[in-house]
Amino acid sequence: KVYNDYFFDEPVFDLHDGGYIPLEKVDIPDQPLNIPAALKPDKVDGNDVYYTITAQAGETQILPGKKTKTWGYSTSLLGQTVVFKQGVHYHIHLVNELPEVTTFHWHGLNVTGPIVDGGPHAPVYPGGSRDIDFTLDQPAQTDWLHPHPCPNTARQVWNGLAAAVVVTDDEEAKLPFPRNYGVDDIPVILQDRTYHDNQLDYKKDYDVDGTLGKYALVNGTINGVFDVTTQRVRLRILNGSDRREWRLHFDDDHEFTQIASDGGTLPEPVRFTKLMLTCAERAEVIVDFGDKKPGDVVTLMSDDTPIMKFKIGNYTREDVKLPEHLTTINAPEVTPGLPVTKTVMSGMDDQVRLDGKLFDMQRIDRRQKIGDTVLWDVVNTNDMDGGMIHPFHMHGCQFLVISRNGKDVYPNEHGWKDTVGVNAGETVRIAVQFTKFGVYMYHCHILEHEDTGMMAQIEAYDPDHKHEYHLISMDEM
Ligand code: C2O
Ligand code: CU
Ligand code: CU
Repeated sequence: KVYNDYFFDEPVFDLHDGGYIPLEKVDIPDQPLNIPAALKPDKVDGNDVYYTITAQAGETQILPGKKTKTWGYSTSLLGQTVVFKQGVHYHIHLVNELPEVTTFHWHGLNVTGPIVDGGPHAPVYPGGSRDIDFTLDQPAQTDWLHPHPCPNTARQVWNGLAAAVVVTDDEEAKLPFPRNYGVDDIPVILQDRTYHDNQLDYKKDYDVDGTLGKYALVNGTINGVFDVTTQRVRLRILNGSDRREWRLHFDDDHEFTQIASDGGTLPEPVRFTKLMLTCAERAEVIVDFGDKKPGDVVTLMSDDTPIMKFKIGNYTREDVKLPEHLTTINAPEVTPGLPVTKTVMSGMDDQVRLDGKLFDMQRIDRRQKIGDTVLWDVVNTNDMDGGMIHPFHMHGCQFLVISRNGKDVYPNEHGWKDTVGVNAGETVRIAVQFTKFGVYMYHCHILEHEDTGMMAQIEAYDPDHKHEYHLISMDEM
């Protein structure tokens, strides 16, 4: 079966939003698509691998003419791709060369909060550094690194901070997926920006309901072209936008197959011609260009705007059929006797609230015992007409999506997720389990909503180990 549907409720697509800015086709020549370099370790010592990641300012040639002042992780824009392997112990030296405080948040990594996971309680001051270490203990997936300082996350991401994180493992390595980084396995980081005399101006473009830009960038490239040299290409698509929803399809309605969601491999491949991603969601897809010949060009679109091109070159034919069953999701059993946790995303613009409240860095809003599996009903109380989709994200875990308004989840939501788009007027039921004690954020991933305060924190606790957390206040940021 091939799906031809975005699944989400069309009346709440962002194009109906008051401040909606449509993407524009940009009248500049095509450019080679930027493929972020893979970050090299400083040192490998048996099972211990050492990295340094520097948040830095720089300049990037984005438009013809003047370079754009941008921020990036160990590069001038976005970031070098961080590759992790399951089971390895990582030691990471985080350096802040920016003129302001930032944090290094590992979106999707199952590492302890609130320090290692890099939420707002883990500031790295200008000129300063922080060292973290953890053992990577989750399956292969595509995650990302982005700043999380309260309340400046949106602006710092807008300025350029966002890196792809690729987790590998031995099970995924046996599946017939392309995995030659930069050749047939590439990140596709989707963002939108507006430039003023070739520069970013976050204040000018700011929208309290989520800042939008009129130009589409893929990996920081406008009108990017990727040279296809293999029959199949694996795209690790990440919606790294502050606010925009991407409705992806090819100009010729070429089919593609999703093999992984936020938290890794899907139980079964899902074939479709349309894919919508809300903020922070990831989808790994394989595109088989076997019906194309050298010289053909296939354009990836969002709504009606071309965002990048695939230029087909000479490739060796291969005849790979994906198995019908890719992996088994070991769904934990819901712990009997526990009530369903209800959490409510309400409002729009400066009225956004989580459970009726604004974020307070020193308030723990909920507690959940580690090891328990609890159902959460995530409610978006927005109106079906005039409301919006709020993408709900949790730190410190990957969850399973159980139902949408009591009905089936979308066909590509049968794997692990850490971010789920919740339609206006919808209740999405998820099953949540924490395995590591700590304090974790959960929030709307429209970054301006998060910065406004549509965020809360949960303590995942271990009854046998009492733990005191020093929760800093906004002034200490
Ligand atoms: Cu992607 Cu709390 O973040
Ligand atoms: Cu996160
Ligand atoms: Cu929101």
